[in-house]
Amino acid sequence: MGLTHDPTFQKLEKWYHEHALHLNMRKMFEEDKERFHKFSTTLKTDHGDILIDYSKNLITEDVMKMLVELGKSRGIEAARDKMFHGDKINFTEGRAVLHVALRNRSNHPIMVDGHDVMPEVNKVLEKMKGFCHKVRSGEWKGWTGKSITDVVNVGIGGSDLGPLMVTEALKNYSKGGPRVHFVSNIDGTHIAKTLAELNAETTLFIVASKTFTTQETITNAESAKEWFIEHAKDKSAVAKHFVALSTAGPLVKAFGIDPDNMFGFWDWVGGRYSLWSCIGLSIALHIGYDNFEKLLEGAHWMDNHFKTAPVEKNAPMLLALLGVWYINFFQAETHAMLPYDQYMHRFAAYFQQGDMESNGKYITIHGKRVNYHTGPIVWGEPGTNGQHAFYQLIHQGTINSFDQWGVELGKALCKKIEPELHGSNEVHSHDSSTNGLINFIKKNHA
Ligand code: F6P
Repeated sequence: MGLTHDPTFQKLEKWYHEHALHLNMRKMFEEDKERFHKFSTTLKTDHGDILIDYSKNLITEDVMKMLVELGKSRGIEAARDKMFHGDKINFTEGRAVLHVALRNRSNHPIMVDGHDVMPEVNKVLEKMKGFCHKVRSGEWKGWTGKSITDVVNVGIGGSDLGPLMVTEALKNYSKGGPRVHFVSNIDGTHIAKTLAELNAETTLFIVASKTFTTQETITNAESAKEWFIEHAKDKSAVAKHFVALSTAGPLVKAFGIDPDNMFGFWDWVGGRYSLWSCIGLSIALHIGYDNFEKLLEGAHWMDNHFKTAPVEKNAPMLLALLGVWYINFFQAETHAMLPYDQYMHRFAAYFQQGDMESNGKYITIHGKRVNYHTGPIVWGEPGTNGQHAFYQLIHQGTINSFDQWGVELGKALCKKIEPELHGSNEVHSHDSSTNGLINFIKKNHA
């Protein structure tokens, strides 16, 4: 039965039409001194409490009761269990969704296609630990025998925004580690500006790309390699200054990176959930591997909470149900209050990438929604996350929460169109709109 035909949804819908317009936040707080206690939950951990205050949302006790009922009637707990169990819930790409295995610090077996993935997860973590020690201790030397002072992560989407957000948020823990820089924009200015500040002798480049085919990333990586070789005057020095985070070994080798300097991950790790994998190498280098392990432990704690807490007390589920309330009735986003910490200033973009790539998106023009999906479009910096989300909107509309085949299709189309932009001949190989756009650019390009 579809969501809107579910009697629990219809009960909520009826309540919304009868009461929502009269909801007044100030009045609700004045009339109920217990509002904060009723609509907040505190998670007790060994390292302190985590407060989730959702009282400043357009909700009442009746609304929360109906939302919890709706979650249960839609099978939210069974769906969660399928994810942890390694079922192929990314059904459009036929993949499991197991970023939880990357941070499974209790090491209980997690099966994919009949085999426990934990040994390989731990092998990659061990390799990351050894590499971080060498770089941070100064044992790893560049081609002139100097230690590494700067790390440049070249990636985009989930291969950029997660590590960028975490290294910002945990900057206070970066003492003794190399400085980190992130390059994602296809506009050559981004990498040129970054390289202008760096010394090739003491810079390490991380090429972060699951497929090792993403146009923006490979273009930037090639520019970085060219710049480096101009300084080193010796191609063999690349091995001391470039490592790869990828699942595509042969492409990594072809780029000129020593396969020993490649850190692998798996197709059951979605890009937007990948900072817990080797994609987090820049985090581990910046804050130290021990702190990166603590980050994994924190996430594992939350995974266990998500896995075991009843819906009424389950923080991720409560926030998701608020998302369902807003997106289906108010066409807005959940307001989970976060103490504003300057180091967390990248969190909103990271959260939005995950939300829009997972829960779909809609566009409003002059206030009227024209493509109904289930979340707002958020413009990332041009050439980065915003574009990826558009690939998904254009190619796959309301998406499975874990796939990104629309982006991969967008990337493939890029490869086809790029060569057609050269020369003065007219293009007729696409739909009339794409042909018109390409021919206009070719005619008017400065
Ligand atoms: O944004 C979609 C996506 O496929 C992400 O999942 C991924 O992080 C990003 O594009 C870059 O892809 P890749 O890591 O293969 O370069």
